[in-house]
Amino acid sequence: MENQTGFKGRLSAAFIRGSGWLEVIVGGMYSGKTEELIRRLRRAEFARQRVQVFKPRIDSRYHAEDVTSHSQESFRAQPIERSEEIWKYLDDATQVVGIDEGQFFDQDLVRVCQELADRGVRVIVAGLDTDWQAKPFEPMPTLMAMAENVTKHHAICVVCGHEASRTQRVAALEGQIVVGSHGLYEARCREHFKPEVQPPVSSLVSL
Ligand code: ADP
Ligand code: TMP
Ligand code: MG
Repeated sequence: MENQTGFKGRLSAAFIRGSGWLEVIVGGMYSGKTEELIRRLRRAEFARQRVQVFKPRIDSRYHAEDVTSHSQESFRAQPIERSEEIWKYLDDATQVVGIDEGQFFDQDLVRVCQELADRGVRVIVAGLDTDWQAKPFEPMPTLMAMAENVTKHHAICVVCGHEASRTQRVAALEGQIVVGSHGLYEARCREHFKPEVQPPVSSLVSL
């Protein structure tokens, strides 16, 4: 009897704290991370949940504010410089927090996401798990370890049409962070990926 009461107590505590939880969407470029993030956010809105979305200010590729996919799907968002700024903009009534381009944030994003989830918020973070050299792109790998749910997407290899698990840099630029899309990066499978700058597929004679 005592045990049963204790069990019920823990159950209701978890329920009262809400469905706080962390979901991570990863994969290479063009794999559909942003589309998937937007899909989940729209479903949350259909369920009449309060949703807020954040993105790093440096990602202004398609739109200065909205989160926007390569296929031009978009969702309103608040651009921020550092992950701690989420607290500044967070509405008390928010039930779902979406974050795109997680790889561009500082390592504090991990603590912020954990705290949000602990408070009962459903947190959904999309981002690259690896960079152009196929090296882990923090803070996404750490977030994957902390998350309740991880989804890994694949694009289509532009060389052979197989599943692409890597992102090839095709412009002679150094450094881990270089914002861009077509002309700078291509989706490639394990076989056609090289961890150094390669010519774009349009210049490959074997095609
Ligand atoms: P991510 O955020 O992972 O970069 P997006 O969700 O923004 O991806 O965009 C996915 C869309 O990119 C696809 O639906 C498709 O229209 C487009 N796309 C362009 N190149 C490719 C490719 N090589 N493989 C798959 N989709 C591609
Ligand atoms: P995407 O995954 O939504 O297409 O966006 C990925 C962004 O990350 C894009 O702006 C390019 C950038 N990027 C880097 O800064 N460094 C990298 O190593 C790779 C692969 C992409
Ligand atoms: Mg994206």
